[in-house]
Amino acid sequence: MKIKNICCIGAGYVGGPTMAVIAENCPHIKVTVVDLNAQRIKDWNDEDLSNLPIYEPDLAGVVKIARGRNLFFSTDVEKAIHEAEMIFISVNTPTKTYGVGKGMAADLKFIELCARQIADVSKTDKIVVEKSTLPVRTAQTINTILTSKQNGVKFQVLSNPEFLAEGSAIADLYNPDRVLIGGGDSKDDQLAVQALFEIYNNWVAKDKIITTNLWSSELSKLTANAFLAQRISSINSFSALCEKTGSDIDEIAQAVGADSRIGSKFLKSSVGFGGSCFQKDILNLVYLCRQFNLPEVADYWEQVIKINDYQKNRFVKNIIYSLFNTVSGKKIAILGWAFKKDTNDTRESPAIYVTDQLLQDKAEIHIFDPKVCAKQIYSDLEDIQIQRKNIYSGGLQVLSINAIRKMVKVHNNPYNALKDSHAVCILTEWEEFKTYDWKKVYKNMLKPAFLFDGRGVLLKEAINEIGFNFYSIGK
Ligand code: NAD
Ligand code: UGA
Repeated sequence: MKIKNICCIGAGYVGGPTMAVIAENCPHIKVTVVDLNAQRIKDWNDEDLSNLPIYEPDLAGVVKIARGRNLFFSTDVEKAIHEAEMIFISVNTPTKTYGVGKGMAADLKFIELCARQIADVSKTDKIVVEKSTLPVRTAQTINTILTSKQNGVKFQVLSNPEFLAEGSAIADLYNPDRVLIGGGDSKDDQLAVQALFEIYNNWVAKDKIITTNLWSSELSKLTANAFLAQRISSINSFSALCEKTGSDIDEIAQAVGADSRIGSKFLKSSVGFGGSCFQKDILNLVYLCRQFNLPEVADYWEQVIKINDYQKNRFVKNIIYSLFNTVSGKKIAILGWAFKKDTNDTRESPAIYVTDQLLQDKAEIHIFDPKVCAKQIYSDLEDIQIQRKNIYSGGLQVLSINAIRKMVKVHNNPYNALKDSHAVCILTEWEEFKTYDWKKVYKNMLKPAFLFDGRGVLLKEAINEIGFNFYSIGK
């Protein structure tokens, strides 16, 4: 079966870049990416490529080649479903904020809506591909919905989880460690697997495309994210021990990572992991384990989240203790708002948590991030107040929008954010932070001047020499 027409539902951080790379590498396939969010689609269609809705290195170049040729962005979901032979579901699967499983389970309402719409619209056979990260056995749910119409249309459901990381999405998609395709055993299922295999094989070597059964594929994605997040919590747990013992976490990471069985990647200690996926996927895994009556397994993985929370908390407490037990009325500069460098994505960024905690202690906050706009920063801070109201208050105050606007200023220029501050916190590892004139920054700060590096960006000796009271995670 040769696919000529693809539809992808969801034009987000996964749907957009993934489909752009498929379209670039498969000029013989028409790829239409659809979304309910009209503004997002408008931005994907913007003539000026610097206005694309997401920032990813090299993404604009790929869009430039394929858009208008065989890559299209549209809000007409029904038409795109109708025309396609293969439909990728790439919508968001956030943590539930209501009802059963609130705060833990994946909210599959967007997935269910897609499945219902595909069932309603389809007049010809379709291969439906799960691209979103889903609880194991979701393909069964999708299949049940798709086949409920009994109108003679045949559906094959495949699992094809995405492993790209933001900030390196295009490089990851061009040159993946592996592509994973899960499918059923029937002849039609295997033909569908083969059709997807052939699409990837346009640029990915055969031996990098792994095929498994549906459930292994769905669960592999949760397992991969759990393992990756676990490494960060593991190294972060040692960073606390380093600070008590005079050991240096980067030296430990180097020594431990040199063991080829352990490997050197993903051992950078930090203020904690952020991003839209690690926390939500592990919470979902913990929820699934409890559902399947595996409490020991659930507790084991939950600890990865607890250490991450502990690390963020520890960082904030350290700031407050260092600044003589209160930051009330003190000017604190925050450098970096994105959850990692080279993205404008701020979902679950530790910067949101750290700033919120400092606001609880009545600090005056001045923020600079090279890629995140003020509107996004205010909206993140407001969202956390809404979550506090709806999910967990933890005895903390719910701040009003007015209070946030009064206490937080967002700057376009880092030196303005830093001027006259009592302390600076580095919360994203943007390369440009290394190039700042830190002597000048020190000169323009109030004394004693404090610098809290939550990403291990700056060199301790150099910064100490300038005169800062310097804290770097795990040193
Ligand atoms: P996102 O929020 O950036 O994008 C999802 C898009 O789907 C949104 O634009 C939303 O408007 C759209 N949408 C939702 N329901 C829709 C519907 N019924 N019809 C049309 N459009 C609809 O999310 P994302 O970061 O791209 O993540 C998508 C999925 O991929 C999630 O399951 C996530 O866990 C997984 N994933 C994400 C990454 C990542 O780096 N962000 C990596 C691997 C896997
Ligand atoms: C992660 C995985 O790396 C991807 O494989 C996966 O596809 C994706 O989640 C997903 O399912 O959404 P992403 O969250 O985009 O990708 O970025 P990562 O590079 O994994 O970083 C996540 C967080 O961990 C960031 O806050 C980063 O700063 C932090 N991190 C990462 C560390 O603190 N230390 C490290 O050594 C690595």
